[in-house]
Amino acid sequence: MMNTIAVIPGDGVGPEVAREATETVTALGLDLTFDVLDHINADTYLETGVAMSEDDLQRVRRAGGVLFGAVGDPRVSSTGYARDILLRLRFEFDLYVNHRPAALLHDRVSPLRDPARRAIDLVVVRENTEGLYLGVGGVLRGGTKDEVAIDEEVNTYLGVSRILDYAFSVARRSVCMVDKSNAVRHGGQLWQRCWCEAVARRPDVETSHLYVDAAAMNLVADPTRFDVVVTNNSYGDILSDLTAQLAGGIGSAASVNLNPETGFALFEPVHGSAPDIAGKGIANPIGALESAALLLDRHGHSGEARALRDAVRRTVAAGRCTPDLGGTLTTAQAGAAIRAELLAT
Ligand code: NAI
Ligand code: MG
Repeated sequence: MMNTIAVIPGDGVGPEVAREATETVTALGLDLTFDVLDHINADTYLETGVAMSEDDLQRVRRAGGVLFGAVGDPRVSSTGYARDILLRLRFEFDLYVNHRPAALLHDRVSPLRDPARRAIDLVVVRENTEGLYLGVGGVLRGGTKDEVAIDEEVNTYLGVSRILDYAFSVARRSVCMVDKSNAVRHGGQLWQRCWCEAVARRPDVETSHLYVDAAAMNLVADPTRFDVVVTNNSYGDILSDLTAQLAGGIGSAASVNLNPETGFALFEPVHGSAPDIAGKGIANPIGALESAALLLDRHGHSGEARALRDAVRRTVAAGRCTPDLGGTLTTAQAGAAIRAELLAT
């Protein structure tokens, strides 16, 4: 059972890129099988009012992990519908780590002018179950000119400590903790206290601290200075789009939502359903493929994961990629080109 992966392709470009990911893993001929839940999408939600049923959740529970495309559709409010799926899975399985690597795809796709600073190779470790996205808060005098809308940021000692410990566990050189403790008082103090304790537990790792505004500036100025960047849910959301762009663009960025204790994980490209290009067959499949590489790593196939990443880089170097990376290939052609490279090795 643990070798069965639940696949949730979702909406928009989600199914287009998820297909390339499953085809590529299948082509490797490993002991992994897929249980595809392709009815979890906006069409089903519009028809039935339910985004993901108890039955669906049972199927996901029986699987050894999830490969996710993207959800979101202009016809439905994402605060209700998308929350119901992705945030529900994150909370249901307590996937408190959002691990988002950013490694330069090719010199040509870097937006940075200075070649010496282009070689970004870092991981943003984003806290995934607390912070600003819990839905705690409310509206006073809604719809009037006196409306007050409040979203509260939740930080717990357990939640902050465990994400910091995870960050140290994946550090190769250093960990940089990012917060806004100079302005966000209560949560800031908790992050600072947990950080001091986590640093004391790992005196072998080099550490630094930045406020989030300075972190954004420093990441653009010289991303090569960073190894692991650990931060809360909302800052991690924002900074990881920034690091994705530095590495080759949002279409190429991968992530895993993870509970390190249970080992349960959900792998997904960082991008959304991209309604502006959905159906055109031009979505970049690399974010989904690099997410599949993360899946291969966690299922004991590190050699294949490395080969897949190398194959991706070789096709991009040869210009055999989708328009967002300067190529002319379709999603399916780009996926096929990567598989051809992969199987040739
Ligand atoms: P988005 O990531 O879908 O698109 C942002 C921009 O990047 C668009 O111009 C899009 O064309 C481009 N892009 C995205 N993926 C690409 C790919 N694979 N290849 C080439 N270009 C790509 O973010 P946006 O527009 O803010 O959100 C669209 C919908 O997706 C919304 O409903 C949103 O809620 C949802 N969403 C879902 C996520 C998920 O399922 N994990 C994450 C982010 C957004
Ligand atoms: Mg985001």
